[in-house]
Amino acid sequence: MSNYHIKHLEEYYQVYRKSVANPELFWEEIAEEHFMWRRKWDKILSWDFSKPSIKWFEGAQLNITENCIDRHLLARGNKTAILFEPNDPKEKAQHITYNELHKKVCKFANVLKNKGIVKGDRVCIYLPMIPELAIAVLACARIGAIHSVVFAGFSSTALASRINDSECKMVITSDGSYRGTKTIDLKGIVDEALKECSCVKTVLVVKRINSNIIMEEGRDYLLQPELDQAPTICKAEIMNAEDALFILYTSGSTGQPKGMVHTTAGYLVYTAYTFKNVFQYREEDVYWCTADIGWITGHSYIVYGPLANGATTVMFEGVPSYPNFGRFWDIVEKHKVTQFYTAPTAIRALAKEGLTHLEKYDLSSLKVLGTVGEPINEEAWHWYDDNVGKKKAPIVDTWWQTETGGIMITPIPYATPTKPTYATLPFPGVQPALINENGEEIKENQVDGRLCIKFPWPSMARTIWGNHQRYKDTYFSAFENKYFTGDGALRDEVGYYRITGRVDDVIIVSGHNLGTAPIEDAINEHPAVAESAIVGFPHDIKGNALYGYVTLKEAGEGRNHDNLRKEINQIITEQIGPIAKLDKIQFTSGLPKTRSGKIMRRILRKIAHKDTSNLGDISTLLNPEVVNDIMNNTV
Ligand code: WT7
Repeated sequence: MSNYHIKHLEEYYQVYRKSVANPELFWEEIAEEHFMWRRKWDKILSWDFSKPSIKWFEGAQLNITENCIDRHLLARGNKTAILFEPNDPKEKAQHITYNELHKKVCKFANVLKNKGIVKGDRVCIYLPMIPELAIAVLACARIGAIHSVVFAGFSSTALASRINDSECKMVITSDGSYRGTKTIDLKGIVDEALKECSCVKTVLVVKRINSNIIMEEGRDYLLQPELDQAPTICKAEIMNAEDALFILYTSGSTGQPKGMVHTTAGYLVYTAYTFKNVFQYREEDVYWCTADIGWITGHSYIVYGPLANGATTVMFEGVPSYPNFGRFWDIVEKHKVTQFYTAPTAIRALAKEGLTHLEKYDLSSLKVLGTVGEPINEEAWHWYDDNVGKKKAPIVDTWWQTETGGIMITPIPYATPTKPTYATLPFPGVQPALINENGEEIKENQVDGRLCIKFPWPSMARTIWGNHQRYKDTYFSAFENKYFTGDGALRDEVGYYRITGRVDDVIIVSGHNLGTAPIEDAINEHPAVAESAIVGFPHDIKGNALYGYVTLKEAGEGRNHDNLRKEINQIITEQIGPIAKLDKIQFTSGLPKTRSGKIMRRILRKIAHKDTSNLGDISTLLNPEVVNDIMNNTV
């Protein structure tokens, strides 16, 4: 019997040691006992980080939706699989049982087939957090189509570039979405994007807000009439273990977003096993992750991980502030939520509102609290622990990435003693390493370094869509034979890890991973802008906010700078989305550069942090004089 469910610390250490001593055997036992295979593997693992090539469960065949839906039908067909809580608290919550989910996914899958989608085709999903989003994802997986979910807060330009990069044949969207008191015209955004996308042949439109939309004949179809005609049975496509399941875009420090490719078997095994243990999931639980399915957190821990365990997973359409800041707690009380998983930025925003809302609700159902997306500060950690968990529900600070597919460093609740701001210990099967400036692994404790992973785990991304070289360069070239995460971390005296943040040009704003380069590219499109540089600076709620240094083509042009600021943020909103807007914009006479012409972000970062006591040696700069000028004119 494999140690599928870890319940105390000794057991964790025992399981962990086993997972390192013989990873193949360890994962084989888990895979063997807990999943539905159409064919078992010939080989558990083959890998070579220098290529890089990683294959898990080669030779095995399966369909992930049979694991997430079909195999639960006998034992828990009438159990709620998806519990949908709408934006408007007056609208009734929907309980979709496993039986109903099975039908809905099969029907949707048949619609995809009717529209000519076959195994391997890419389908872009641009939907709000409504059940159709999860169903569309599963419908793609049912027939072996590769889903590419794009967060419905991204602009038409960002959407178009993602659609084109992976040459999606279809887009699934809705007329619009609700967000608190607002509605957003998603179909309009899709129409705009598709002007640039010749690869898209079909658009399926879910009606959600009943707005007036323009339907292009021969391309656009309302989903409902198509579903009405579709059969309720759809045989699952038999997939190979390493067939692509989905593409999910994430920002890099340079260039276009990276389409991370996740494959089938390893992803299923890892997300299911982590879900079970990190949330100490039990059959009667009601689990709620507040993320959007547009991010990896939603893929792995709203859809696949929970459903693979036969869990009830809550999907919330709205925002934490509508109709007021008690909404999250209202939902916890109403549905007796047992596990609650959110981001530090949400915790800080809620903490700022004080306790009046929170105190109105009964939160005693909560057993585990989770956080993810960025380092959690000590104050937010204690607020969460004291007021939400009442010191009785352990906090799991889960460190992972779009690229890792599943949770990598985390406490196991009720087993690992927690420590504020520490993600604590590696999950079984995860072998972290800290690397010093010389590229050597530091073995001792009480050190910090660059965080790498030195052995493959089943849910790691296998490549970047259409650009394997970039995958190699980004993750496997910094340090030989290791996956480099882009994060820095420190390890304390007992081996607990604390993630200290990105060491590259990625900035995490409200838990959203933003690369500086695409934002700078957007700003530079403004006709008055010569060049720009973005850095992060600490922000009470967002964790980091963006500070932009912008050099104009003509300094004394006499333009109204506030207008210019608005215009710059407008361009960013159009090109990327409102999440990437700058909080502060400083117009500068120049940007500090090295002699090779590289912008010295380190200096700009310090200035934005108002930490100018030690700027380091600036004498080697090409233009040291701009530094004083910038320091004297901060905003
Ligand atoms: C980056 C990955 C994984 C889902 C959400 C983000 C940061 C993530 C933590 C944490 C400190 C964290 C890292 C990582 N991050 N979780 N618990 N503590 N930092 O996925 O958008 O791919 O971002 O988020 O910097 O590299 P992502």
